[in-house]
Amino acid sequence: MSVRAVSTPNIALIKYWSNRNEELRLPAADSLSMTLDRPTVEVVVEYAERFTARSFEPDGTARILTDKESKRLEKHFLLVKKYLDTIGAAVFPASVSLEIRSKIPKSVGLASSAAVFSVLAEAYGSFAKKLSRRDVSILARLGSGSASRSVFGGFVAMIAGEGETIGASYAEQVAPENHWKLWDIIIVPSHKEKETGSTEGHALARTSPLFEARLREIPNRQKMCIEAIRQKDFEKLQRVAEEDCLDMHAVMASSTPSLQYLSEETHRIIRDVEELRTREHLAVLYTMDAGPTVHLICDESALPSVRAYAHTQKDCTVFEASIGRGSHTL
Ligand code: DP6
Repeated sequence: MSVRAVSTPNIALIKYWSNRNEELRLPAADSLSMTLDRPTVEVVVEYAERFTARSFEPDGTARILTDKESKRLEKHFLLVKKYLDTIGAAVFPASVSLEIRSKIPKSVGLASSAAVFSVLAEAYGSFAKKLSRRDVSILARLGSGSASRSVFGGFVAMIAGEGETIGASYAEQVAPENHWKLWDIIIVPSHKEKETGSTEGHALARTSPLFEARLREIPNRQKMCIEAIRQKDFEKLQRVAEEDCLDMHAVMASSTPSLQYLSEETHRIIRDVEELRTREHLAVLYTMDAGPTVHLICDESALPSVRAYAHTQKDCTVFEASIGRGSHTL
């Protein structure tokens, strides 16, 4: 038996940064994102005697997985089996072979882990008996926290929950993809800062003196963000998303060791965008994850100006996505 599935990344509006349990990726707080409609990652999962994983670049050439990547994929598979056993849903092969085809261009600076682990959760889930979407989001979370949110389309909340059980934290949809047609114009500055991966970064968040205050703020921000989405109030969304993004980067920068993900270029683009939206009254907001890449989220009326601005940036790669439907089998 083999299963094919597809998924995409998501962009967080309220950021996930720190876990209460690193092993199970149980987040310290809620978060919220918009699922993108591209670029896609596809997988084929087949029954196999032993676990193997092969990965392919957008041009179809084989991509050699590092030891760390292979181990992470296998560990995820074992945690998935454990959870399915716990809920009595396991009609599952002893092991599997994976074929992962990513359309995420290397130069785009979009983390592929959300798309990869949500698509694997989708495929694994279809081997099991009657899984809910919530269960699939839990399977995705076991590989990458943010992957949980790519299981749903549209706007998606990650519920931190309480306790230390595998199923304690999951994602749920706030509004479907046809609720509000927003875009993400992604500007990747050529100058790449040295990066610490998110998994290592999450573990450092608690060393920041700003971390506790951030935890206290998130419930209110999450609530405001959900309201802004339901009411399609872009100004409200912009205020809360930018505040939370800058707050996360302040936590990152003040942790030990300090994580400086933003570059001079990032700050210049932010200033330009603030000026542009005041001048042209545009519904556009900026947000950045663990890297210098700037995501400009905008509505359809702002799209031509935001797109034009992005394409005038020298030495930057520009990538466009809109709101998507989340992971699904093919
Ligand atoms: C800054 O989900 O990539 O993008 O569970 O270690 O894979 P792992 O972490 P990951 O963390 C995402 C961090 C972020 C914010 C976000 O997407 O909410």
